[in-house]
Amino acid sequence: RRTLEQYKTIDDAAMLLKKSQNIIVITGAGISTSLGIPDFRSKNTGFYSRLRELGYQEPEEVFDIHLFDQDPTIFYRLAGNILPDLEKWSPTHEFIRLLQDKGKLLTNYTQNIDNVEAHAGIRKEKLIQCHGSWATATCRKCKYKIPGEELFPAIKAQTPAECEKCIIALAEQNPGLKRKRVSNGKKKRRNAGEFDSDSDEAYDIPQPGIMKPDITFFGEALPKEFFHRLENEDRKKVDLVIVMGTSMKVAPVSEIPNFFPKDVPHIYINRDPVNHINFDITLLGDCDTIVAELARRAGWELKHRMLPEE
Ligand code: OAD
Repeated sequence: RRTLEQYKTIDDAAMLLKKSQNIIVITGAGISTSLGIPDFRSKNTGFYSRLRELGYQEPEEVFDIHLFDQDPTIFYRLAGNILPDLEKWSPTHEFIRLLQDKGKLLTNYTQNIDNVEAHAGIRKEKLIQCHGSWATATCRKCKYKIPGEELFPAIKAQTPAECEKCIIALAEQNPGLKRKRVSNGKKKRRNAGEFDSDSDEAYDIPQPGIMKPDITFFGEALPKEFFHRLENEDRKKVDLVIVMGTSMKVAPVSEIPNFFPKDVPHIYINRDPVNHINFDITLLGDCDTIVAELARRAGWELKHRMLPEE
């Protein structure tokens, strides 16, 4: 996208905040790092960087749907590191809430799956969770859904959770099926890499599906409402775009800035700069500090216990 030459400074950004009525906020993991939740790609601290240190060459594969179906143990072994267990929110979430309270928030497109927006009071109709969330989980085989929290014990135990409904259905369909001894006497694999440990016998029955949280994995479609809202509603209304705490490396969210009319100003607030997208105003640094300063210059009060007292 071409930049709009008339906007450059933090005061321009504050002025745009004051005059805009339909602001789209695009967020990523960087707005939750001050809460202790790691982002993905920051050097040393990001979740993927840590996985690389553990020897995973392609850490994004943790969220690859084809690999999950082949071997869910990788996800279950590692996902405990990013389980949401917080009821707090950051000053940046508070800032988005302030935009909502002032009637200026059109939509917050979040890539985050931590659901912290809900704790900050951002209303459901103002929020698109582009990459899904932990709120629910679905069986890969029969599509049975459960509340996401029911999966947390399995994730903490690092053991793939089998679908209860499949287990019951299989037992009903196959009442006579018993464990069979495998003819050559060798143990037969049940799941990839997993042997029946207590005997030489093996399961020779159809397997239940594995539960997967409704996080959008690589290879899966984004929620329908993402495209619908963007194309049919927000594109026509938006008058300011603020992108915060995201490296904008993952499509289609990274494509959103190219999708809006050319005269809509775009502001980028992030610790590290990006080169692949043109923003009108780039404010580099800690997002909690920057939004507090922006609010101050706009003449608004941003109250949050993580911000220093004035
Ligand atoms: P990234 O880790 O790629 O980017 C986070 C950005 O936030 C980095 O550019 C950091 O510099 C910046 N950052 C971190 N802390 C900050 C702070 N306190 N203030 C300002 N900036 C800060 O995370 P995302 O862009 O969100 O997918 O990643 C997008 C998607 O990739 C995620 O949704 C995830 C991952 O695969 C799924 O979870 C399915």
